[in-house]
Amino acid sequence: MWPRILGPPPKHDRPQAQPTMHDRPPTAGTVIRRATADDLDAIGAIYAESVLSGVASYELVPPTAAEMRTRFEAVTAGGYPWLVAGAPGAVAGYAYASAFRTRPAYRWLVEDSIYVDAARRGSGIGRALLDRLLGECDALGFRQMVAVIGGAHPASIGLHQAAGFVSCGRIAASGFKFGRWLDTEFMQRPLGEGARTLPDEKAYPGTLFGG
Ligand SMILES: CC(C)(COP(=O)(O)OP(=O)(O)OC[C@H]1O[C@@H](n2cnc3c(N)ncnc32)[C@H](O)[C@@H]1OP(=O)(O)O)[C@@H](O)C(=O)NCCC(=O)NCCS
Repeated sequence: MWPRILGPPPKHDRPQAQPTMHDRPPTAGTVIRRATADDLDAIGAIYAESVLSGVASYELVPPTAAEMRTRFEAVTAGGYPWLVAGAPGAVAGYAYASAFRTRPAYRWLVEDSIYVDAARRGSGIGRALLDRLLGECDALGFRQMVAVIGGAHPASIGLHQAAGFVSCGRIAASGFKFGRWLDTEFMQRPLGEGARTLPDEKAYPGTLFGG
């Protein structure tokens, strides 16, 4: 089920967005930037292709444009980063972080989601998006990122391994799509000081979910 953000953090606790314009040198010839609502059609098209032909998402029917907007607004209102690769009108992929679960003790853990246009895969775009997402989540104060890898797909496992994630479990036969059972692989990577220090619960993300 889509995680519901239980109210955005108060304005003064909300992290300020990082600089948004061309703020990362092009990687694989592609700029990574903050997504805007204008990117939602392209984002929706990339996701729809993955829903219909891949196992990364366990959705069976692509969400409507209105539902994509609702998801985008829920994620960004919570202060989580949502990034795209490519200039407006030429989006080659996107990535965002969101709550793994919304029970308050989970608020230091984010889940990543990354989708690259099928025609642009294998050229470094996924890695560029993930590296930037890791950096932003680290700066925001999150302590762990988890990848929930549908179908235990080798490309996604390889991408996360390359970015320093390690396997932390697998649920066998947890999905059923295209007439076959799918395993879900979990991979994890610490952010910032990870579990080496205790977090400041008064500062974001400690303020998420009424924490
Ligand atoms: C997974 C995905 C995001 C990777 O994006 P990408 O732009 O193709 O990946 P990159 O070109 O940046 O590759 C980065 C690293 O990932 C790994 N990787 C990428 N494709 C791979 C594949 N087919 N098999 C194994 N490893 C692969 C490699 O380690 C690669 O580094 P290298 O090129 O130095 O060897 C992309 O394949 C995709 O959108 N797949 C469908 C949706 C999906 O699975 N999303 C993940 C949800 S958690």
